[in-house]
Amino acid sequence: MSSNGNTVLVTGGAGYIGSHACKMLADTGYTPVVVDNLSTGSPWSVQWGELEECDIRDGEKLNQIFERYRPVAVMHFAAKAYVGESVEKPDIYYNNNVIGTMSLLDCMHQNSVQQLVFSSTCATYGTPDQVPIDETCLQAPINPYGMSKFIAERMMADYGLAYGLRFVALRYFNAAGGDPDAEIGEAHDPETHLIPLILDAAAGTRDQIQVYGTDYDTPDGTCIRDYIHVTDIADAHVLALKHLLEDGDSQFLNLGNNQGFSVHEVIAAAKRVTGRDFDVKEVARRPGDPAQLVSNSTLAEKTLGWIPKRSDIDIQIEDAWRWHMKYYQHN
Ligand SMILES: NC(=O)c1ccc[n+]([C@@H]2O[C@H](COP(=O)([O-])OP(=O)(O)OC[C@H]3O[C@@H](n4cnc5c(N)ncnc54)[C@H](O)[C@@H]3O)[C@@H](O)[C@H]2O)c1
Repeated sequence: MSSNGNTVLVTGGAGYIGSHACKMLADTGYTPVVVDNLSTGSPWSVQWGELEECDIRDGEKLNQIFERYRPVAVMHFAAKAYVGESVEKPDIYYNNNVIGTMSLLDCMHQNSVQQLVFSSTCATYGTPDQVPIDETCLQAPINPYGMSKFIAERMMADYGLAYGLRFVALRYFNAAGGDPDAEIGEAHDPETHLIPLILDAAAGTRDQIQVYGTDYDTPDGTCIRDYIHVTDIADAHVLALKHLLEDGDSQFLNLGNNQGFSVHEVIAAAKRVTGRDFDVKEVARRPGDPAQLVSNSTLAEKTLGWIPKRSDIDIQIEDAWRWHMKYYQHN
């Protein structure tokens, strides 16, 4: 199959964020091709392009896919992304996220594909020395997941210097929401993200929602996070791709809403949006949760012309809830 010049290879495109990026790519005239080993992703979320079932660490198979589709660029979402699991099984995280990324970079180099948009994370900052966090903040990851992404960023920079790779590493804060048409959405198993867990409680499939720590140095004592809608993340990916295709330089950019919400505020918003009440249990802090992670994303706005459109926390929860009701009725 020869490329039409608009083919973008999307690793991890069967996952939550990657599938939304595929929809956005198709909507903006690109042809996504998904490479995914389906370890946490699902075939049903691949609706906008071919699915090639492949582990990115399988260099030989990956190379054949590059030769078959001849992509102009790559979006790299494939990773293991559970912080707690990464502490228990660091080997799995370094193997998948670091060696997997290196295998991909080598394949890109071999096939002269020079443009890459990468899913990085605010976890590369660890416990930040200032909030809001901008890209000049010290990166000091506090778990193997964050470290694996930090190493991947450094590898990209080095491949850039040596081999001419150009990349945009997007450091997302907390992805949230779902496709406004409810065609795809978040369905992780196990689920660890706050909003889908709260929606389980609202739907009655979970007895209660636990709040870890109420004695943080924040106005209501609970942790504060910056939630960014998954379609706004997808939008930033397409803008980053265009930036690279127009010969733009490599960038590290935060993606957040420049605004934080406490756990209690998110729970209150979910009760408001769903019109449902549910039990909330306050328990002790978990180790390794910084009190506040809030982004300063003005660099992404300036560099890419990115403007988040679904920032309102109620909209993020509404979109997630619509998807949640649709998906869990059938599963
Ligand atoms: N969800 C968030 O809040 C968040 C925040 C910051 C960064 N990120 C990053 O965004 C990316 C996507 O996250 P997500 O929430 O959509 O996760 P996800 O688990 O839904 O998607 C990851 C996808 O990658 C695939 N995959 C994993 N390892 C692979 C491998 N070796 N080869 C091929 N495919 C593989 C999985 O099957 C899955 O489809 C990840 O890189 C994650 O680290 C996510």
